[in-house]
Amino acid sequence: MTLRFEEFYDWTKSELNLQLDGYKQKQLQRRITTIMKKSGANDLASYAEKIMADAQVKNDFLDYITINVTEFFRNKDIFTEFEHILTQELPQKFPNLKIWSAACSTGAEAYSVAIALKKKNLEKKSKIIGTDIDLTILQKAREGIYRDADIKNVDQTDLQRFFKAEEPFYHLNKDIKELVNFKQHDLILGKYENDFQVIICRNVTIYFNDEIKDNLYRKMSDALVPGGIFFIGATETIYNPAKYGLRKVGSFLYQKIE
Ligand SMILES: C[S@@+](CC[C@H](N)C(=O)[O-])C[C@H]1O[C@@H](n2cnc3c(N)ncnc32)[C@H](O)[C@@H]1O
Repeated sequence: MTLRFEEFYDWTKSELNLQLDGYKQKQLQRRITTIMKKSGANDLASYAEKIMADAQVKNDFLDYITINVTEFFRNKDIFTEFEHILTQELPQKFPNLKIWSAACSTGAEAYSVAIALKKKNLEKKSKIIGTDIDLTILQKAREGIYRDADIKNVDQTDLQRFFKAEEPFYHLNKDIKELVNFKQHDLILGKYENDFQVIICRNVTIYFNDEIKDNLYRKMSDALVPGGIFFIGATETIYNPAKYGLRKVGSFLYQKIE
């Protein structure tokens, strides 16, 4: 028996709780075909069987369809603009900051926030949550071990202060790691927490179709307190922010209307 992609997605939804029809299709189908062939399967039905029978094949599948590229202080200039709002403006408005790094991959983004807050002695007034759909990547995030490419935007002084170098790795210090709580969360199927002063959701909606994106922006806005900040990726735009109760306050920064 051969499966069409739509049927394979019904199967991933019921067996793996993974809603793949919400992703942009061309790119996703190309990736699924590549990883399927790597496993030795020639069609989606036998690939589904392999995924169920072999935990390694299942992990490889989940890892490959989620693209995990990230780095500390990604898009440095844009991050600096965000950092100013985070450490200068928001603390004047809110006594405590609840911050969510959504689709955080290996945690570089959540830890960049932790470093920025620590440098301004704001870490005790802050709670940072990092979430991703991918359990393997979350384990890496908790370990906090990085390579050159991940830390290229970290200043030398911060590198010495917050990391321990053990060539070719950089181990993030415990006092920064402790500031972030990582947990699994699916942006399409998961329930959203609320009362956030800051939500960062960068470089994941590019993989979602318009309907999923529309839902996501609505749910993100609901999860923010009035005056809270929503930080998106450098290739992303919210075309009609007012529709979601948001207004643009920076290059890739939106504020929930009060
Ligand atoms: C390219 S990384 C972005 C990492 C980080 N936000 C950044 O901009 O550097 C995209 C992440 O989105 C995650 N992801 C993909 N689909 C997801 C979903 N439905 N729910 C939550 N995370 C998802 C992937 O596992 C991956 O770690």
